[in-house]
Amino acid sequence: MPVTQTREIAAATRLDNVKYAIRDLASVANEIVAQGHKVVPLNIGDPNVFDFRTPPHLIEAVHRAMLDNKNGYAPSPGIKPALDAIRGEAARKGITSVQDVFVTNGVSETVDTCLTALLNPGDDLLTPCPDYPLYSALLTKLGIRLNTYYLNEEDGWQPELDDIKKKITPRTRGIVLINPNNPTGAVCTRAMLQQIADIARQHNLLIFSDEIYDKLILDDDEHISIAAVAPDVPVVTFGGLSKNYLVPGWRIGWGIVSGEAATVRNYNEGIQRLLRARLCANHPEQYAIPAALEGPQDHLIEVRRKLRSRRDLTVQWCNSTPRVSCVSPRGAFYAYPRIDIPEGDDVFVKELMLQKHVMVVHGSGFGQKPGTQHFRIVFLPDEKTLSSAYAAIAEFIKGRYR
Ligand SMILES: Cc1ncc(COP(=O)(O)O)c(C=O)c1O
Repeated sequence: MPVTQTREIAAATRLDNVKYAIRDLASVANEIVAQGHKVVPLNIGDPNVFDFRTPPHLIEAVHRAMLDNKNGYAPSPGIKPALDAIRGEAARKGITSVQDVFVTNGVSETVDTCLTALLNPGDDLLTPCPDYPLYSALLTKLGIRLNTYYLNEEDGWQPELDDIKKKITPRTRGIVLINPNNPTGAVCTRAMLQQIADIARQHNLLIFSDEIYDKLILDDDEHISIAAVAPDVPVVTFGGLSKNYLVPGWRIGWGIVSGEAATVRNYNEGIQRLLRARLCANHPEQYAIPAALEGPQDHLIEVRRKLRSRRDLTVQWCNSTPRVSCVSPRGAFYAYPRIDIPEGDDVFVKELMLQKHVMVVHGSGFGQKPGTQHFRIVFLPDEKTLSSAYAAIAEFIKGRYR
């Protein structure tokens, strides 16, 4: 008689707090779709879901690589033409003290690799609040206590320096900066970067600077890399093709290790060991890196034009709707409006989806100061879609809160 296994296979308890609010909401949306409704997805930062198309010269580069049989494993740090192109990009960003560069399966893998290579049990890492939830999910996976610093809504969502200083412990190993920021759209000023670099110098911290949106600057700000401002400070700058080059499904990212050679040597060897253990990043897609970074950049003009118009529409709606207010995002494609309601923003978001079929993400999924509530809007859809979604949200707010 066959023996059936009856005891449930339990997931590891360290995953209890691994959450990713942006995708966790999908199960509720699936139910709505199963009932025959259309959900307006203002929740996922994927330009290709909307009216943004991959530049053809990137597709041609990958197609050619596939036909040339570049379909086997690649070198673990990445193929040479890609590494050369990333070094060229680092130079254009003004990063002069580059010690190494490497290619990953998306910035998601850069983050995983860099955090894993740095942190021992009992260490901590300063991450922004609100943050892009991958950071807290990975720290939880690594068993690292979360240590967050606030971004200040009253100061255009710039990092709160006093809070950073206050939160540093003897076990703090580094600080994460997301610039331009997800979910707030803030772009760091040069003065802010200089002050953060000073704190890192003083406390021997490594800086992780996530710059995945660095070409999506919507106003006349200059995007400044902290590694360029502080060549002596150990920094890993994260970049990738997903957003700037409209290929999130290709899973291509990279890291640029900079600082003084002797300071970053051991840590970089740790990164390289992890890269070898996972064999390599997607091989043919790496050929898109030189095509993207060294080829025509024309698509960016149109992308920024669309984003600027959609950002303006979004901010105007927020600031003319009762109970909603918003700091204008200056980069990326997210707005993080504040909402004044007598219930949790998770309830707001769920009810909005159930009643109006508009999907946004609750502020509590990114983190926020106690006593405040927010939601994140992805303003990638066209103006018509955004306008009707905003009308539905306004109607929902009016009906539910009077
Ligand atoms: C700040 C930030 N970092 C990293 C990522 C992940 O990027 P990738 O597609 O390269 O893994 C995202 C994606 O939304 C992001 O917003």
